[in-house]
Amino acid sequence: MKRLVIFASGNGSNAENIINYFKNKKHIADVIFVISNNEKAGVINRAKNLSVPVFVLKNKDFEQNYLIHFLKENRVDYIILAGFLRKISDSLIHEFPQKIINIHPSLLPKYGGLGMYGHKVHDAVIANNEKKSGISIHYVNEEYDKGKILFQKECEVSESDNADSLAQKIHQLEHRFFPDFLEQLLLNKL
Ligand code: GAR
Repeated sequence: MKRLVIFASGNGSNAENIINYFKNKKHIADVIFVISNNEKAGVINRAKNLSVPVFVLKNKDFEQNYLIHFLKENRVDYIILAGFLRKISDSLIHEFPQKIINIHPSLLPKYGGLGMYGHKVHDAVIANNEKKSGISIHYVNEEYDKGKILFQKECEVSESDNADSLAQKIHQLEHRFFPDFLEQLLLNKL
């Protein structure tokens, strides 16, 4: 059984979905807690309602060694970024090599990098008249959204789409494929 921690800054629909997915597959993985950098994040109540402990940290805490110690003490195997909007520190990456996984709401390398998150990504995709968008799951390395891509799935962007409707399509893909992808990864089936 792998011990997962989810980092999330916002609404938390992906976090909730992953927690629920592994509730009945505890022999594969267990989300042992959620960490947020935003005391107003929707993910806090979502996790609490599912009886998963949540810790809210200040942005500066994410740069500190005590976070690494805390994660190691709790024998964390993987850190899953599900709508986490801060850059991960180099020291955390070095302590968890290829164990930090992010989901991004575009077909990387397009529309990645600093400041590209959530609706900003979808706004840019629509503004550029892209015909397709999608999701990317990748390892986190020292460069924003540049770690090795492990999985992508496309969706069409139609003439009538706006950032909201595109966000819905993307969330559908994320909810359908992210937990499943994680299961395959954890079972070494990739
Ligand atoms: C998701 O679409 C995720 O891909 C995106 O934030 C959303 C969070 O939704 N992540 C990024 O933009 C990271 N750069 P959620 O809070 O409902 O899971």
